[in-house]
This record gives sequence, C-alpha cells and structure tokens, in this order.
Amino acid sequence: MVEVDPAFVQEQEHRPKFSIIEAKGIPEIDLSPIFHHDVPNPSAIDALVKEIGSACKEWGFFQVTNHGVPLSLRQRLEEASRLFFAQSLEEKKKVARDEINPTGYYDTEHTKNVRDWKEVFDLLVKDPTLVPLNSDEHDDRVIQWSNPSPQYPSHFRALIEEYIKEMEKLAFKLLELIALSLGVEAKRFEEFFKDQTSFIRFNRYPPCPSPHLALGVGRHKDAGALTILAQDDVGGLEVKRKTDQEWVPVKPTQDAYIINVCDIIQVWSNDAYESVEHRATVNTEKERFSIPFFFNPGHDAEIKPLEELINKQNPSKYMPYKWGEALALMEAMKEVASRGINNVI
Ligand code: SIN
Ligand code: FE2
Repeated sequence: MVEVDPAFVQEQEHRPKFSIIEAKGIPEIDLSPIFHHDVPNPSAIDALVKEIGSACKEWGFFQVTNHGVPLSLRQRLEEASRLFFAQSLEEKKKVARDEINPTGYYDTEHTKNVRDWKEVFDLLVKDPTLVPLNSDEHDDRVIQWSNPSPQYPSHFRALIEEYIKEMEKLAFKLLELIALSLGVEAKRFEEFFKDQTSFIRFNRYPPCPSPHLALGVGRHKDAGALTILAQDDVGGLEVKRKTDQEWVPVKPTQDAYIINVCDIIQVWSNDAYESVEHRATVNTEKERFSIPFFFNPGHDAEIKPLEELINKQNPSKYMPYKWGEALALMEAMKEVASRGINNVI
C-alpha cells in the first residue's frame, strides 16, 4: 500500500534497499598537515596530495577531518537551523523562494520528476545585489532580489555569514590540493571564484512513513565545482560510483565534512576525476539535517578542460561553456519543474 502522496514515489529501480551488508566506506582524509602545523611539512603535504588525488579518482567522494572549521561554530549553526525549521510553515514562508527570489525557503522540490521528502532554506554567499553582472547577458530578475534574512532565530544570518567564511577557507585549500594532485599550479583555480556564485543550503528531511518508496533527495550529481557537506548523526547519504552496482551509504563521522567532486572539476580534469551520483534516503523515526556548501565559480567563468592536461594522447572531451549560462539553464528548468511540467535535473 502506498502511504505517501504518489508524487514522492520513486520508480521501482530507484527505491532504496537499506541493505544490511556493511559497505566499504568512502575514504577518510586527515587534513592536519595543512591546518595543524605551524611549519609546513612538505613530505606530509605530498602524501596528502596523493591521498586526495586517489580519493578523487577512485571515489569522487571523501570525508575530511582536522579541517580547521571550529566544531562549536558548526554546532551553533546546526542548532539555529533546527530552530528555523521548527517554526510554523507560515513563519518559514515569510522567507520563501518564489518566481522572483530563487533563494529562500521551500518545501516542494523535484529531482528527476519525483518529489523530494525534504524542506530547504538556501542562501547565496555573495548577496546578489552586490554581484556585478555582465550587462549584455543579465536577466533583470536577478538584480531585483537580495538574499532573504530569516528573522528567527535572530542570530541565524550572522552565524551563516561566519560559517561561510570557514567554508570558503576550506574550499580554497581543498581546491589547491586538488590542483596539485592534477599536476597543475596550486592556485590554478582561484581566478574562477572572484565573483563566485556559491551558496549554502540547509536541508531538513522529516521522518517518512514510506522510506522504502520515497527519497529525501533523488539521485543526482552536483553541477558546481566542489560540495562540502555537514551531515548530522542520522545517516542517509548514499553514493554510487560508476564501477559499483550498489549504492554505498556514507556513515556519519562526527565533526567530519563530506567532500564531493562536482561536474566542473570533472570538466577541468578532462574526466580524470568524475562527478559521482548520490542521493539521500529517509527513515520512519528520525528527522535528519544536513548543510551542504556549494562552491561555485563566477557567472563569467569559462569552463573547459585545463590546457596543461590536454595533449594528443589526452584530447579535450568537452566544449567550453559559461558557468552563468549553465546556471541560468538550470534555474529555468527548475522553474518549469516547479510548475509541475517536468524536471530534468
Ligand atoms: C544533496 O546532495 O543534495 C544533499 C545530500 C544530503 O543531504 O546528504
Ligand atoms: Fe548533491
């Protein structure tokens, strides 16, 4: 018997199995060589670069510890997120995403045509009103909105700002390690992020009466450069490598961050590293919270395989594209989907 609205029901082949077989976990990488040493230790950094390289190549997903982000800040933010979601729907809708404002609160989202069992609050890292826009291609809607400011809890916005700074620091460090692992200059990617379109997301996955039919978020890949995810201790994130038939659950490790290579790194690396499909399952008992930080370049960034990696043996596999155009396309597809017509991402 279907106990949830049919909009949430996944096709048979995409329903979670909740296998009891203990799967091999994603790699766990200790970042202390870069965050906990006053004097750099080149051999430890070299070893770290190799570890990151093989995690990106073999998994596309890994967890990091000793990442430099203060645990107390993360805990305060997680608590603020809980308080925000505990409000009435009416209160949350005061900062709702709508046709004009693409960030804010929403509880209706579809992934691959099936509704996700979640509610979300999104916020752009750089307030959109401050982002310089390319005059010949800008969309008038973009400059009419600014990030919503949740009124409750009162310190939520300030905490988010503080946390975002930590996320950026970690993201730039990770990008340096990834650049080195590809054999290019450490700061190779920095220029792309001057006018970054990164954003932070707060997810709440409520308990679900039919976790075998629905998903918190359906299978997808992340379109940006890098995602840094904080998940609580409930668990539900699953990843599927191209080489694996099964979905692998990512067991929560307290205070760790989960990092995934997204589509842009796949393109920059000319497929040396791949963006990996993932999804989130739900359960009958516990609500689950997660906070992904999506590290994305500026609108004008031209995305293509790095010239340093391209040669006769390794010809470019991608045509260049503008990140801003890809983003606009995704927004448009989301808008169509929100009107119940379709969803392709
Ligand atoms: C996502 O990939 O969109 C979120 C994953 C999670 O909440 O674990
Ligand atoms: Fe994702």
